[in-house]
Amino acid sequence: EKESTLAMIKPDGLNYTDDVKRIVNDFGFSILRELTVQLDEDEVKVFYSEHSKRSFFPNLVKYMTSGPVFVMVLEKVNAVSDWRDLIGPTDARKAKITHPHSIRAMCGLDSERNCVHGSDSLQSATREISFFFRRIVSTEGRVSK
Ligand code: CMP
Repeated sequence: EKESTLAMIKPDGLNYTDDVKRIVNDFGFSILRELTVQLDEDEVKVFYSEHSKRSFFPNLVKYMTSGPVFVMVLEKVNAVSDWRDLIGPTDARKAKITHPHSIRAMCGLDSERNCVHGSDSLQSATREISFFFRRIVSTEGRVSK
């Protein structure tokens, strides 16, 4: 069964957009939607609300508003976990050692500046897709076109 997930290239990764899109295509994802947008502080606080109590949250808000992000809705069988596997661990420093072929190893810097995002579950994917693409109705990970 096909799923949809939200992939985001963060402000520090925008120069890698072409490389990331090549990987997206090579691994068989379809890009259903794409969008470049400058997030404001309130939007980042909503998108990352589950992290609002963490000590790194203020820095995360600064980082995510430091420039535009590039957002894609990716579709394929197992899209959520396959995209998470491709981006690698949250800490890009670790990724460079343990997952040298991952996207975060390619363009990330550390545990904050990790250049890309991927939904961590089908439930998160539905929420995150509707955050950016309000007119898409999503059920069980499948986005209607
Ligand atoms: P992401 O996978 O998009 O989800 C939450 C983000 O918070 C994460 O990527 C990082 O950008 C940031 N983050 C997570 N853990 C830390 C940490 N320990 N220190 C700083 N930033 C973090």
